[in-house]
Amino acid sequence: MAEDRPFHWEYRPEPVVKEIFRVEGGRPLSGTVSISGAKNAALKVLAAATLTGERCRFTNVPEIEDVRVMAETLAHLGVVVDHPEPGVYEVAAGDIDWLFVPLEAAARMRASFMLLGPLLTRLGRVIISNPGGDRIGRRPVDLHVEAMRALGAEIEYRYGYYYAKAPGRLRGAEVSFPQVSVMGTENAMLAATLADGHTVIRPAAREPEVDDLIVFLQAMGADVQRTDPDTIEIDGKRRLRGAEHRVLPDRIETGTFVIATAVTGGRVRLEGAPCDHLGGFLDAVARAGVPVACGKDTVEIDASNVGPGAFRPIDVETAPYPGLATDLQPPTCVLLTQAAGTSRVHETIFEDRLEWLAELRRMGAIVTIADDHHASIDGPTRLRGAEVEIGDLRAGASLILAALAAQGTSTIRGAHHVHRGYENIDGKFAELGARIERRAEEVPPSRP
Ligand code: EPU
Repeated sequence: MAEDRPFHWEYRPEPVVKEIFRVEGGRPLSGTVSISGAKNAALKVLAAATLTGERCRFTNVPEIEDVRVMAETLAHLGVVVDHPEPGVYEVAAGDIDWLFVPLEAAARMRASFMLLGPLLTRLGRVIISNPGGDRIGRRPVDLHVEAMRALGAEIEYRYGYYYAKAPGRLRGAEVSFPQVSVMGTENAMLAATLADGHTVIRPAAREPEVDDLIVFLQAMGADVQRTDPDTIEIDGKRRLRGAEHRVLPDRIETGTFVIATAVTGGRVRLEGAPCDHLGGFLDAVARAGVPVACGKDTVEIDASNVGPGAFRPIDVETAPYPGLATDLQPPTCVLLTQAAGTSRVHETIFEDRLEWLAELRRMGAIVTIADDHHASIDGPTRLRGAEVEIGDLRAGASLILAALAAQGTSTIRGAHHVHRGYENIDGKFAELGARIERRAEEVPPSRP
């Protein structure tokens, strides 16, 4: 019987279950919370497990939608994926039936493109959907494709798909990126682990998640080293073995809870949260006057004595690690609404990461968006509960922070964006005393 799934050009994303957060703001957070494993590391080690036919086991994997999508994408290729208990995944890519990553996967998650490097280098070919096509928004993958070509791959682009093959093995090479790319670095690194000869990647991204991937690859028997802060060198091996790996803690979740505590005037201890991964974020919050104390794998924030609106205005600029992470720019903007004076924000990495400030304005924030990369925030403002809509993951978490700080009740639509990347965010805030609930969105009855 013919499958009733549409051809890819007829592709329509599956309808998502519409949920909202309802938040009653104005309560200081207090208590202790554990930080989950990092989304942007977990997705990459799951992809890297396809470099071997042997079983790999991962712990501290966050229970989030993006991980579920990656696991499902792997399973559709014929990879065995087990999820024996929360936080644990096992992957065995002995037999892969299909070297094809469909548009469905790419449309749901850009990180599906992380399968290009490992499938190509181990199995010699793959057809993979472009996650940056017009249909699903900008964000090119040219740096990934050029890196594979530098390693000897032949890649053609047809009908929204990259057709990639490696005649024989990929060959070690100099991979020079015109700009730093996190997933570009990771894809090139995965491809080089099974290439013939020596590869040098420069400039290589310095994000802690890249180093976490290196740790896993080394456990698999790969010869990968960071030889300079911005250089990774790899000597390709003929085969890699199965390995175990514990995913590092999520520094973006850590930063999100730091700001949540600060803007509610709370006092919170974060466990399993190493400060030394926070980079320029730590410097930004210190300049703004947030009292943060770093222990070994703990962060304590005590803003209970900082009066409302008493933070200092600052100018911030996002940058590749160790600079201020672009993923922490939206939460930082919420903090700046509580600073006494004008703060300026320069988003250098993405051009659509300031748009959500229009929603923050609905809660009373005084924001001027100068262009796609620059905004200013005047404070302090007393945020008030409002109805707002989440457009993407990090903006979504930030609207929750603003709602926690606001007087009154907020209704935040588009909760599914937040579940993509934050494990049990509403449950964790509730444990800290927040009044937050997640529920199905009520759809108004249609008119007769
Ligand atoms: N870029 C290109 N061509 C490419 C790749 C990137 O022009 O082929 C550009 C991007 O458009 C951007 C810049 O290079 O302007 C840097 O992008 P990068 O490649 O570093 O981003 P990424 O690897 O696609 C990862 C994270 C993002 C995070 C960025 C920056 C994952 C799965 N995603 O994306 O995380 O914002 O690095 O740190 O690791 C998130 O978790 O919410 C998220 C968006």
